Amino acid sequence: MRYSKRTDDIIDSFIMKLISVSKEKGMISFATGLPDGRLFDTEGIAKAAADVLHDNPKEVLQYSTLKGITPLREKIAARCRTEMNFNVSAENILITNGSQECFDLIGKMFLDKGDGMVVDDPGYLGALQSFSLYGPKFIGVPMNEDGPDTAKLAEALKQHPKLYYSIPNHQNPSGFSYSLEKRKEVAEMISGSDCMMAEDDAYGELGYDGRIGPPVRSMADNVILTGSYSKIISPGMRIGWMIVPDEMVEMTMKCIESSSLHANSFSQCIMDRFLENLDFNKYIKGLRKEYKRKRDLMLDLLDDHLPPELTWNRPSGGMFIWLRTPEGTDAMRFFDSALKNKIVVMPGRPFHVNGGENTIRLNFATANDEDIKEGVKRLAKAYDGLF
Ligand SMILES: Cc1ncc(COP(=O)(O)O)c(C=O)c1O
Repeated sequence: MRYSKRTDDIIDSFIMKLISVSKEKGMISFATGLPDGRLFDTEGIAKAAADVLHDNPKEVLQYSTLKGITPLREKIAARCRTEMNFNVSAENILITNGSQECFDLIGKMFLDKGDGMVVDDPGYLGALQSFSLYGPKFIGVPMNEDGPDTAKLAEALKQHPKLYYSIPNHQNPSGFSYSLEKRKEVAEMISGSDCMMAEDDAYGELGYDGRIGPPVRSMADNVILTGSYSKIISPGMRIGWMIVPDEMVEMTMKCIESSSLHANSFSQCIMDRFLENLDFNKYIKGLRKEYKRKRDLMLDLLDDHLPPELTWNRPSGGMFIWLRTPEGTDAMRFFDSALKNKIVVMPGRPFHVNGGENTIRLNFATANDEDIKEGVKRLAKAYDGLF
């Protein structure tokens, strides 16, 4: 096939492959980033869909506005004001087909082949894959339990990268979050640079005790903030958004128009009606409580069943635990042995620019309690005698 040269640069994603392995009979999966389907409000969404089709069928089934429907953008702007401590006009908010589309749009707008791009190390593989299509030179900055290594970030910024992509809240894959000090430090460094930050807030609403800190966007202007309803309402509806600085609005609109005309407006109308009918704060409290409970369940089981040379963190939100096998060991072997024991985990290496051989990502959100209990036992068996 005479594919473009650009396609040579796309990095492989393990994730989609693992989704199909996870569906094999008898398999338990801690591998993917899927939210718990049992928490979808299927009745509420069905009612919202029926209502919008009944009330406004011609409008909701028609082409729509490029930026996305106004009431939904206004709801996102209101949430920024009340929860994130910054004022944004709905005019700066553009709805996308999931926040994944934001990464493609951002790459398209900013990256030429060979441009420097700073990323968390480890960082979200799906975004790295999306950006890789534009051929940047990735510069990894170690992501620690309290946020990025800012000395390394300062060094990286000296190379005049075009973009810095980072996830300050309950990061995928590690579950790590920036401390308040790191948020301030990063905001100051980015403000004084010619680098645009893409701040991914996919898990920000899933802080178990509420939002863990203000977005970097609230402290610096050259930041694009991306968000999504995928992890809190439904990933299948494919609704994400990006909040862009004033001077980027026109260019972002051009890029959206050229790639999709606009995000799925039927989905947007259903989402907007669903939110209209919902006590959002109460709803989100319920989700946080349930994910916290599942985190605790998995952490207790890991404590009970895994040997002390394995270590892991205690995330304050989101869906992931970051497991480390001893320094110098190859966690791919653990992954292989786990598969043989019918438990799928996600090796940490593909999330890294450098290193990460001894890391594994565990998702505690998707599986039910019984599978979490059985899955951790299988993990312990898979690890036994391996190194
Ligand atoms: C950190 C992060 N950002 C963005 C996404 C993309 O989500 P969506 O396109 O469904 O909004 C994901 C999905 O797993 C994610 O983990």
